[in-house]
Amino acid sequence: MSMELSPRLMAIATWFTGEESMADIGTDHGYLPVALIEKKIIAKAFACDINKKPLEKARKFIKDNGLNNCIETRLGSGLSVLQPGEAEVIVMAGMGGILITELLEAEVLIAGAAKKLIIQPMNNQPVVRRYLETHGFKIIHEDLAQESNRIYEIIVAAPGTMSINDVLDYQLGYQAIQTRHPLLKAHINRKIYLEEKICDSTRGKTSLIAKKQFKESKTYILRLNEVKKCL
Ligand SMILES: C[S@@+](CC[C@H](N)C(=O)[O-])C[C@H]1O[C@@H](n2cnc3c(N)ncnc32)[C@H](O)[C@@H]1O
Repeated sequence: MSMELSPRLMAIATWFTGEESMADIGTDHGYLPVALIEKKIIAKAFACDINKKPLEKARKFIKDNGLNNCIETRLGSGLSVLQPGEAEVIVMAGMGGILITELLEAEVLIAGAAKKLIIQPMNNQPVVRRYLETHGFKIIHEDLAQESNRIYEIIVAAPGTMSINDVLDYQLGYQAIQTRHPLLKAHINRKIYLEEKICDSTRGKTSLIAKKQFKESKTYILRLNEVKKCL
């Protein structure tokens, strides 16, 4: 039963570069490990989830595709279901950014033993980049994927060091301005839209927090517009 991945999962799949094994943390349906094995991108996968129902779904999907011998399912939280080095690539996709950093922090040895982390946070992406920078990882690629009107940020990291000096590198993606992804303009427009909503909700408010937020959002919008002009 061959399957096509969504643009978001397809973008994640493109960042495998000859590794043997992967773990999909929060696998849900199990689409990614099944496609990676089917396409012979990797030889061994671990489909992992904290919840029984999604893992059952993944198990059925794996079995229906006749891939029981290549994909192991594991029930439990985050990286705790893995041994250090067991998965060369660890994928954490479709979860919140804060949860992702908490799961990395809970199992630093396992995270640090992977060759590559492919992370696709649904929110709080700047927090994830900051966590990686301050916890022994370097971002080696950034990617964007679009599904209907939503743009997803994909962060590929490896053990190492890096230093981020511009706030936009946290916000838009590490070196996103230099690499000029084809979706960067749309990505910036979306960020401007979201910041304008924050401005609307804080405009004219008297609390110090609201005033500070309004000013920060205004400044951020100005910078984003400047970047857009140069693209
Ligand atoms: C929205 S789905 C994402 C599915 C898939 N990774 C994707 O990107 O399409 C999130 C999944 O993460 C699982 N999850 C939530 N917290 C988790 C944790 N602490 N450890 C492992 N899985 C978790 C949920 O049960 C759910 O199946």
